[in-house]
Amino acid sequence: MQQSQGLLRQRDVCHRAENSSLIDFSHNDYLGLANSIELTQALFDGATTYGVGSKASPLVSGYSAAHVDLEQQLCRLTGHQAAMLFCSGYSANSALMSTLFTQADTVIADKLVHASIIDGIQHSGAKLVRFLHNDLSSAERLLAKHPNSVLVTESVFSMDGDKAPLAELSLLCKQHNALMIVDDAHGFATSRDFEATSRVADVQVVTFGKALGCQGAAVLAKQSVINYLVANARHYIYSTALSPANAYVAHSAIKLVQQQPERITRLHDNIHLFKELAQQSQLPLIASLSAIQPVIVGGNEQTLSLANMLAKLGFKVGAIRSPTVPKGSERLRITLSASHQPQQIHQLVSALKKLMIDCSGEKV
Ligand SMILES: Cc1ncc(COP(=O)(O)O)c(C=O)c1O
Repeated sequence: MQQSQGLLRQRDVCHRAENSSLIDFSHNDYLGLANSIELTQALFDGATTYGVGSKASPLVSGYSAAHVDLEQQLCRLTGHQAAMLFCSGYSANSALMSTLFTQADTVIADKLVHASIIDGIQHSGAKLVRFLHNDLSSAERLLAKHPNSVLVTESVFSMDGDKAPLAELSLLCKQHNALMIVDDAHGFATSRDFEATSRVADVQVVTFGKALGCQGAAVLAKQSVINYLVANARHYIYSTALSPANAYVAHSAIKLVQQQPERITRLHDNIHLFKELAQQSQLPLIASLSAIQPVIVGGNEQTLSLANMLAKLGFKVGAIRSPTVPKGSERLRITLSASHQPQQIHQLVSALKKLMIDCSGEKV
């Protein structure tokens, strides 16, 4: 059934860029750090100094100096009072939502927030109400109806790549005495302004598996919120802590981004180039200024087939199907990275243009 609808999810074995015949436009390694010499060395140094594994829950003996250092670095960088680390962004979001809320709460969330946020809220038993994606009037109506509540959104949306109007949402939250939680998974470390989200978010979730090229996540908030989560978040208490070697790598990745801001410049140059070429080729893009550039195809089978044809031409892109995205908006999710060469972006857009013309039988 799933197979006939183009919905069967499968895993492909991926190879390191240099061993693969495909140019990869599907990953979230926005600054090209995942295979860098610097982070490879940091992983070795971190493991040598602190150990490969943390060996226990943070509340038993799994919380090391590597974790403390990273938490303090994140607080200095963002201005939040306190931080706590998780093994993944999924775990951080789920723990945050399911621990902070109860059946007595109402949570107002953007229609497109990530599955980990929805799962956590549903697990808490809180009432979940959704506002139209990035729609300030819709958010305001719900805030007026549910004052003293909490609003949840993302800085950069994972499937559309567009950015939330964080400053405006924050103002509305203040007017209605609501807290604002921002999942910054795809925004963190993609601009030189590390405080862009923390200036407006009461609670911020950052992940290390995207722009930082490694693994793990953190919740950043006031000390009282973190104290409460440390004492009550079951994902944190009943799970082995993030590996200290990984904590050390995330710490090193942040330092590297600060020392090499040209990585961020290269990422933005590549985003710019892709958008310009895609617009010239009249590809059906969603308006996005981020590294995530979706090309709408429509239809699960059509999307998968286009991704497979691109692979035959040497390009790996994400095929995002419904129900991950609404029916009719199935898409190729193209992600840009500082590691792409301009020539590779030219080649991708030419291949896309040709395939879309071939598929539609007419010029796009
Ligand atoms: C918006 C968003 N939040 C959270 C996550 C989960 O982060 P992680 O991959 O570290 O589990 C993702 C993952 O893709 C995401 O897109």
